[in-house]
Amino acid sequence: MTQPSDEIRQQLIEAAAAARHWAYAPYSHYAVGAALLTASGKVYEGVNIENAAYPDGICAERVAVFKAVSEGEREFVAIAVVTSNGGSPCGSCRQVLAEFGLETVVYLADEAGRLVSETTVAGLLPASFGPKSLG
Ligand code: THU
Repeated sequence: MTQPSDEIRQQLIEAAAAARHWAYAPYSHYAVGAALLTASGKVYEGVNIENAAYPDGICAERVAVFKAVSEGEREFVAIAVVTSNGGSPCGSCRQVLAEFGLETVVYLADEAGRLVSETTVAGLLPASFGPKSLG
């Protein structure tokens, strides 16, 4: 898979930043927006959705992946995640992303749209347990 262009990267960061507006984070006040580019060229956005029963909330990255997979998408090129400070995906989101490919590019950006880090799912989750591990 060729690396996404700078333009695609910027578009994804902007989409994630715009999606972040819809985050439902009344407890943490930490709004997260994600934008996931599929191999078919579609972009699925996600936000974190918290719950008064705290553990029932879900992260932005997983919302984006689940939206995409629920519409038949399973091949992902890149995901941008935007937070106030360029925070890194949690372990559960890394694991869910790993299910669909270790080479997915991950862009982390802050609320000004500045790229804080560029890596891959493999970079975020080395020695992962995945579909192949089950034999
Ligand atoms: N959060 C995400 O949406 N993605 C992550 O990878 C890290 C954390 C959310 C969960 C919760 O709503 C808030 O950020 C604070 O943890």
